[in-house]
Amino acid sequence: MRDINQFTVTQAVKDSFKTEPGSRFEQLLHGFIDHLHDFTREHSLTHEEWMGVLNFLYDCGQISTPERHEFILLSDVIGFSALVDMINTKGGATEGSNLGPFYLDNAPEKKLGADLADDRDGVSVLVFGKVTDSLHKPLAGAVVDTWQADGSGTYPIQEQDQGQDKYDLRGKFTCDDQGRYYYTTVLPKPYTVPYDGPVGDLLRAGNRHAWRTAHLHYIIRHPHMSAITTEIFFENTDYIDQDAVFGVRKSLIAKVRPLKGLDELGFELEKTPDAMCEFDFVLAPEG
Ligand code: BEZ
Ligand code: FE
Repeated sequence: MRDINQFTVTQAVKDSFKTEPGSRFEQLLHGFIDHLHDFTREHSLTHEEWMGVLNFLYDCGQISTPERHEFILLSDVIGFSALVDMINTKGGATEGSNLGPFYLDNAPEKKLGADLADDRDGVSVLVFGKVTDSLHKPLAGAVVDTWQADGSGTYPIQEQDQGQDKYDLRGKFTCDDQGRYYYTTVLPKPYTVPYDGPVGDLLRAGNRHAWRTAHLHYIIRHPHMSAITTEIFFENTDYIDQDAVFGVRKSLIAKVRPLKGLDELGFELEKTPDAMCEFDFVLAPEG
């Protein structure tokens, strides 16, 4: 390996790994080395720039805790998470979108028609729709697992030191035999992703803001179908076209409208809402 130069080093590095020929691991590792070396050659990276990248990654590690994963945030703001979501959306299924950092897998089970908001300030909205397969067949028993920010753009989990319960504004609903889900909640407001760390520095360096447009988070599961992780967004809300993590897709934008035809829906609701918002989810078969 002593005849190595800037053109032969790439192959030498790939050859140094004794990976199983043709394996997925080998493809990804070799592809990563190829792209990284090509990038470095194309831009004639200086030592200062190289060290800047390594220090940035070091800082991301330093600020990370079990509750704060700065690398996921980095992946989000550079559209890496969105790209993985888009590539992995199955044909016919609802498009995927960000999981975000505030998911809890043990959210309380709630009855259809329950109110998630208690007496929180803001616009009370009925969120409802169906979970079906791509042929519109209702998926009875599908579980709609949701979590969200409040009417001022804060997740209760972020304010536990101020007495908030981290399980507030979240719940799991089991769809009825028509595949329907329905509940009332408070309309969330936009909020900023954490920008007090290295990812915030990156946003400032690129003259970018840290705002996420308002959204509701969902994971939808059914025993025979592929689960989806996605979000619902709202027409005409701030930052809908500048979401800091590139989560918005046209197909995920819902309308919030005045209450109309509530009686015909026949829902038993814990609370009478101010407005309504309908959104149907479609799951694709497993595999
Ligand atoms: C969120 O949707 O909650 C979120 C997503 C990415 C970064 C920070 C927060
Ligand atoms: Fe969120």
